Amino acid sequence: MLLDWKLALLPYEQAVDELVIKFKGIRREYQVANLISPIEEVTGRVKTVASIIEKANRRNIPLDKALYTLEDIAGIRIICRFVDDIQEVINLIRKRDGADLEIIEEEDYITNTKNSGYRSYHITINYPMFIQGEYKKIKCELQIRTLAMNFWATIEHSLRYKFDRNVPSEIKNRLKVCAEAAYKLDEEMDKIKDELMESQQFMESREQLINRIIHNIHNLYNNSHIENKNEYNYQFIKLYQEGNVEKLKQYNTELEALLEEIGE
Ligand code: GTP
Ligand code: MG
Repeated sequence: MLLDWKLALLPYEQAVDELVIKFKGIRREYQVANLISPIEEVTGRVKTVASIIEKANRRNIPLDKALYTLEDIAGIRIICRFVDDIQEVINLIRKRDGADLEIIEEEDYITNTKNSGYRSYHITINYPMFIQGEYKKIKCELQIRTLAMNFWATIEHSLRYKFDRNVPSEIKNRLKVCAEAAYKLDEEMDKIKDELMESQQFMESREQLINRIIHNIHNLYNNSHIENKNEYNYQFIKLYQEGNVEKLKQYNTELEALLEEIGE
């Protein structure tokens, strides 16, 4: 069978590009709204021809069917900071089911950790596209995981390759111990976050705080009943120049209290 791989993989390249842009767009929406995004990082890749052939052989799939059968030729990775964020991302994806994507399957390797120690949430989707004027659905695997899960999976994956899939059992066991450590790290980070999250300003960068203040001042300006509006700007500029984050936080708390009072 003659297969022009470059041409055959073109739709997958396009699907990956589009999906990366879309998920990065979600991240931007949160940032613009001054909210902490559940998405930390988005990456995408198209499987190499060598590994498509290898996987098709391993699964006894004829090559001409491989492109339609393998679900991870187009792959997107969505990295979150916290385990809780994963559910938020899943919900965001489910909301789009039937709109700009179709969910085929979900695999929860977080609740059902794999024997290797692997944890991640997988969603296989059909992604509709127009290729050379024709409507086509491209299968794509979305992997949603935390930074800690990703760290573990990346190292484990490269070892798997290094040992040509025959990782010595001693190393396998050590990797399981590492997986346990990554799990504890996620758990502990989630606890720290929950304890400190009462104030939404936790983990807000200085820049985000400044943006929030500007946003709040903007809202105050929109309210015609407030007098001496410029005073708020002057005070902000003074505090900004002084550079004391605690004072800026205090100032923002006052702004938010005022906005609440006037019902903005
Ligand atoms: P494979 O893709 O060949 O594993 O078959 P599958 O699609 O039946 O497996 P599954 O849905 O379990 O996993 C799909 C993808 O998840 C893989 O291609 C990897 O990217 C990732 N994955 C699954 N298990 C592991 C693991 O033990 N270690 C690492 N590093 N990644 C894994
Ligand atoms: Mg799978």
